Amino acid sequence: MRVRTRPIEGQKPGTSGLRKKTKVFMSEGYLENFVQSVFDATGGAEGRTYVVGGDGRYFNDSAVQVILKMAAANGARRVIVGRGGLLSTPAASHLIRLHKTDGGLILSASHNPGGPDEDFGIKFNTANGGPAPEALTEAIHARTQEIDAYRLADEPDVEIDRIGEQHIGGMQVSVIDPVADYAALMETLFDFPKIRALFARGFRMRFDAMSAITGPYAAEILEERLGAAPGTVVNATPLPDFGGLHPDPNPTWAKALMDEMMGPDAPDFGAASDGDGDRNMVVGRGIYVAPSDSLAVLAANAHLAPGYRAGLRGVARSMPTSTAADRVAAALGIGSYETPTGWKFFGNLLDAGRVTLCGEESFGTGSDHVREKDGLWAVLLWLNILAERKQSIREIMEDHWRRFGRNYYSRHDYEALTAELANRVMDRLHGRLAALPGTCIEGMTVAAADDFAYADPVDGSVSRGQGLRVVFTDGSRIVLRLSGTGTEGATLRLYLERCVAGPEGLDAEVQAALAPVIRAAETLAAIRATTGRQGPDVVT
Ligand code: G1P
Ligand code: ZN
Repeated sequence: MRVRTRPIEGQKPGTSGLRKKTKVFMSEGYLENFVQSVFDATGGAEGRTYVVGGDGRYFNDSAVQVILKMAAANGARRVIVGRGGLLSTPAASHLIRLHKTDGGLILSASHNPGGPDEDFGIKFNTANGGPAPEALTEAIHARTQEIDAYRLADEPDVEIDRIGEQHIGGMQVSVIDPVADYAALMETLFDFPKIRALFARGFRMRFDAMSAITGPYAAEILEERLGAAPGTVVNATPLPDFGGLHPDPNPTWAKALMDEMMGPDAPDFGAASDGDGDRNMVVGRGIYVAPSDSLAVLAANAHLAPGYRAGLRGVARSMPTSTAADRVAAALGIGSYETPTGWKFFGNLLDAGRVTLCGEESFGTGSDHVREKDGLWAVLLWLNILAERKQSIREIMEDHWRRFGRNYYSRHDYEALTAELANRVMDRLHGRLAALPGTCIEGMTVAAADDFAYADPVDGSVSRGQGLRVVFTDGSRIVLRLSGTGTEGATLRLYLERCVAGPEGLDAEVQAALAPVIRAAETLAAIRATTGRQGPDVVT
């Protein structure tokens, strides 16, 4: 049936899909308008195939039913859906590629809290398995501004809890096990027998699934297939409100894991992942691994895992991510790329075979096995490296810093600012950029300062306004940008980096090591002075 509708303001996808308060998504026509706009902006759904699934947050199941009925009414041929409407983001990406579908609709607001008063989101991924590129998200947004009707099949709900084939009108719905294909893919990339032997030797691990989607994936892979002790995976049942917490794997929100890993009887290895399973945090006994460092260590050691034995083609990182991975790429003699924030910018580089590994400072790491970042994949690559090197995480980190130098790194987030205040901070620094090169702040000389623009080396598309950066002659950097994933107010992200070549000064406390850079940032951007805040809300 054809339902008349009117454009709804604000359906503009951000860094990663459209995210809004759950109640907004549940309001009349909101989800329907967006999904119809996705179909319209991609040439219609007639005869097409899709993957549909989400992270299980509140409204996930109802949204899946709506999408299935809309796909059917729009003439889609087949939709593959995870049992219960569940799929982690990387698993969805893999299924799109495995079944060569025309794309997928992923329901998630990632690491944002879930529940009737929290956040919901939807994202369209294209046939390569990756997030829609900017040109397409813009076309989808444009369509939402002129839409006047959507199509919805007037049919009963699909039994999404029952694996097997069903139909809505002429459309086939295949309900599949959300874990099986993903787990099989992991077995092709990593040396499962070797990791099994590691666990058999008494290696202890804690994986905090944060009551989110990776619980079933981690339990199956770590405990069932790799023989980790029962109970290794905690908070393993996906809950619609993630137990009322932020399913965000960082030291602030995964505090229980951090406390355990810093405690007297810490396991050998700790890890956590986020709401939809694309992020990861890695912690050793008594040592936290910064995501930028994790990317660099994985790049330096990936060849130890069977899937990467032939070596890497190149490494890409988002601009605010520390330059630690660049040093590894230089040492390996492979290409390194600096892209804007957001996984969608890695897609072309991966598709063109220019890079094998990608990463972001925001707890995202991944490779060309899918077109999303992949939390559990990163954990398995670490496990494979640990099984090969037979060293502790601390030994591996210290060895890495001795070899490549250390990039002290931290991100300071100022959350829930008014847009007006946040923009004032951005505008002020923006206005000063041109005059900065050559000036000296906190004993450091500015080498370059700009508003980052990215020209995609594959398709030539240019993305501007991707963050303000100030680079010093000693390699230290200050980056400032506004978050594009929030649903309320504005969040300023201040990224701070300082490089130490070693061999001295490799074991300082991170915030202390960054002190001059932090002071320089305040001198330049006056965040505290402008916002009246005493300090950041979240430090990672
Ligand atoms: C944040 C991260 C970014 C990541 C995105 C989706 O976006 O900073 O690296 O790709 O979440 O997980 P932001 O809120 O900064 O726009
Ligand atoms: Zn996520």
